[in-house]
Amino acid sequence: MEYCSKLFSMLKPFIAANWKMNKTIKETEDFITSFLPMVKDVKDVDIAIAPPFTSLASAGKLLKATSIQLAAQNVFYEEKGAFTGEVSAGMLTDAGCSLVIMGHSERRHLFSESNEAVNKKIRAARKNRLEVILCVGETLREREENKTFEVLESQLSGSLKDIMLEGITIAYEPVWAIGTGKTATPEQANEAHTFIKKWLKKQFGEEAGRTRILYGGSVTPENIESLMEEPEVEGALVGGASLNPESFAKIIFGAKRRKK
Ligand code: PGA
Repeated sequence: MEYCSKLFSMLKPFIAANWKMNKTIKETEDFITSFLPMVKDVKDVDIAIAPPFTSLASAGKLLKATSIQLAAQNVFYEEKGAFTGEVSAGMLTDAGCSLVIMGHSERRHLFSESNEAVNKKIRAARKNRLEVILCVGETLREREENKTFEVLESQLSGSLKDIMLEGITIAYEPVWAIGTGKTATPEQANEAHTFIKKWLKKQFGEEAGRTRILYGGSVTPENIESLMEEPEVEGALVGGASLNPESFAKIIFGAKRRKK
């Protein structure tokens, strides 16, 4: 583990905005226009924004000349055809995306997305050279029944079956902390991240040393610094607090101040 901590601590913090089903095209453009000058000098934090599908192309144009990654919130695993309502990985790269969020708990719970489907989606994304943020996390009930590690292991092993880790970031998002205002304590986050890192190391060996683990679930400008102080927290996936440019920029500045 000592080896891991040293290596991981060299990884650049990564802060990603997950807007979920929020913002029109105009609202997306207004956000990006005011956000870009706020973070123009930030070099030591990687940043991504995941708007809804309808805003991707216009966000892509505004972000093109920047180092901020454009992310999608979902993808379908087939390339094209009769799949009403779905969007392929090729369509996402065409719109300017370089990243896609996968297996978010809202998709798993509201849309019955299985680990098997997530696995197929990751393959399609990687084939199209899209990077991936793979979300994993336990429900409150699972935590109370002491099943957290069991759930994480089954989501990781099912979603990453026969896949190379390169280009994949993991987001630990305890379901009970998403949009509830209840953040996992920094220690709880660190404990889950440590488990994930050990698991990745066991399965993927040295390759795991390059994989960042983000925390997600009620991250705010107020709690980002204490979360980032934990040795195994490499960044954050931010929902509600990423909808406002000032608050999202503050989170990025908080992550930048990370002490190691
Ligand atoms: P939240 O959402 O920050 O609003 O809790 C995080 C997420 O679901 O990715």
